[in-house]
Amino acid sequence: MATTIVVTGRGGTGKSSFVALAGRHLDTPQLLIDADPDQSLAALLGADLTATDTKTISDVLYDIQAAAKKAPADLRTMPLAEKLKYLLHMNCLYESATFDMLVLGVKWTTGCYCHPNDILRAILPELAANYAITIIDSPAGLEHLNRRIVRKVDDIFAVMDPSAKSLRNVERIREISAQVGIDFQNLYLVANYRFSEEQTDSLANIPGTTYLGRMPHDPDVEAYDRAGQSLLELPADSVASAAVRDILSKAGYSVH
Ligand SMILES: Nc1ncnc2c1ncn2[C@@H]1O[C@H](COP(=O)(O)OP(=O)(O)OP(=O)(O)O)[C@@H](O)[C@H]1O
Ligand SMILES: [Mg+2]
Repeated sequence: MATTIVVTGRGGTGKSSFVALAGRHLDTPQLLIDADPDQSLAALLGADLTATDTKTISDVLYDIQAAAKKAPADLRTMPLAEKLKYLLHMNCLYESATFDMLVLGVKWTTGCYCHPNDILRAILPELAANYAITIIDSPAGLEHLNRRIVRKVDDIFAVMDPSAKSLRNVERIREISAQVGIDFQNLYLVANYRFSEEQTDSLANIPGTTYLGRMPHDPDVEAYDRAGQSLLELPADSVASAAVRDILSKAGYSVH
C-alpha cells in the first residue's frame, strides 16, 4: 500500500532535514515532494536539479500559460489534463536510484487557469501509487493546508520548536485540517534540536496528537547543510539520523 506522509511545522524548525533523514530510513522507491517556496530539499539530498534540467510544476504551468496566449484560439481551448500530465512527468520528475522528487515552485501568474497546488492534488493519487512512500515537505505556515495539496494522508509529522507559537501551530493544524477536510490517521509530534529533554515533557499529553521523540542537535546536520553536502551521506552513527529512524519506527514504519 502506498503511504503518504506530510511533514509540517513553523519556519526553520527542521522540517526539510527531517524529510531528508526520513528518506534515508524508509522503504523505497520514494517520491519526495518539495512544496516549500524555499526549494531547499533538493540541496539537502544532493540532487542537482539544474544539471538534470528539472523544472518545477510552477515553471511548467507558467510556460504553458505563456505559450497558450500565443496559440490560436482553438488550441487555447484544448483540454490540457493529458498534456499536463505528460509535460510534468517529462520535465518535473527528478529521478534517482532511491527516490524521485517533484518541486512545486513559486512562479505563477495571476489569472493563471490553475494553481500549481491544484495540479499537484490532481496528479498525486495516481503518481503516488507507483511508490512505497510519498513524503511531502510542507512550507512553514498553514496556508498550504487551506490549499489542500492532498486530501488524504496517512500521517502528519509536526516538527516543533520549544515555543508557545509551536503549540498553537499544532492546534491550528488540527483545526484547519478538520475544517477543510484533510483526512489523516495520526498527528505525530517531533521535538526539534532546540528542545531540551526535560522540555519535551510538555508534548506528551496534547489532545489528538502523539509525541514520538526528539531530533537532537547534530553538528554534522548543520555543517552538511552549510557545505551543500547531502544528508544522505551523514555517517551511520549520526545522532540526528538515528533519532529520526527511532521516531519513524515508533510510528510503526518499517525502517532500515
Ligand atoms: N538536528 C539538527 N541539528 C543541528 N542543526 C539542525 C538540526 N535539524 C535542523 N538543523 C538546522 O536548522 C536549520 C533549519 O533546518 P531545515 O532547513 O531543515 O528547517 P525547515 O523547517 O525546513 O526550514 P524552512 O521553514 O525554512 O523550510 C538548518 O540550518 C539545519 O541544518
Ligand atoms: Mg524547509
